[in-house]
Amino acid sequence: MPDWLIAPGPASRELGEEVARRLGLDLLDLELTIFPDGESKIKIKRDVQRSSVVVIQSTYPPVDRNLMQLLFIAHKLSEMGAEVYAFVPYLAYARQDKEFLKGEVVSIAVVARLMRAAGIKRLDTVDIHSINALAYFAFPAHTISAIPLLAEYLKTNYSLREPIVVSPDLGGAARAEGFASILKTEHLILKKARDRVTGDVSVEDIDVSLEGRDAVLVDDIISTGGSIEKAATLLYKKGVKKVYAACTHPLLLGDALQRLAKADVEIIGTNTVPSVVSKVDVAPLCASHLSTICT
Ligand code: R5P
Repeated sequence: MPDWLIAPGPASRELGEEVARRLGLDLLDLELTIFPDGESKIKIKRDVQRSSVVVIQSTYPPVDRNLMQLLFIAHKLSEMGAEVYAFVPYLAYARQDKEFLKGEVVSIAVVARLMRAAGIKRLDTVDIHSINALAYFAFPAHTISAIPLLAEYLKTNYSLREPIVVSPDLGGAARAEGFASILKTEHLILKKARDRVTGDVSVEDIDVSLEGRDAVLVDDIISTGGSIEKAATLLYKKGVKKVYAACTHPLLLGDALQRLAKADVEIIGTNTVPSVVSKVDVAPLCASHLSTICT
């Protein structure tokens, strides 16, 4: 029987510690130094030979620093004789899963190769943006969903008026459908278009009245907040009383928080990306998933 350890990376310290506590597993301590030029230096503080180690490290901004730290930790652990598993609560680059415009790098494919080169034997993540991205990994790669946890949270903590669950785009249809089934209500799918050059978002008008109802927009990521802002504006035009946005990964870059507050949107996120709106803790979900692996 291998000895299982949890190594919380610098980006997911709290979450990793809570997962280890729930699983009753020992923590592997790491020492991190950031040099003045931004380089990370990591030291593993115990012998890990013949151990199985789950490294928990999210790759929210600074994306490349957090990703490099994951690769460094994994590489050193496997060099020291451990079997390395990566649990990446938010997996960056999953939106770059194809060559949308000629000449574009399929970045997630490169990330997958780097992880393999670093010795990672398995990847688990939460609500990956595109399931297609998993196909680039030459080792087992899985995604689990925090959408049911978000839906349960809203069901328990809010008195929603005739709620309608809304996906801001076609890609999120299954997420909205699952969310709506937990709230036992209907869902609606908006048609969003993103300009691949400028990144600007537009949402197609809908011929439906939502007078007096509450709407819950469901998305995997809120990055700049542009998609949710556009969708919320449309929903308010259709008579919605209050717009909520439930998302797994609240990246909330730049002025996203102020922008969405101005658009009268209340955001409910998870702690795959720690933020002021991370009201839903994914530790129980991660621990229960990992309990099927760490045996
Ligand atoms: C894209 O399809 C994703 O599901 C999100 O809708 C998107 O990443 C959100 O980005 P932003 O907040 O910048 O509009």
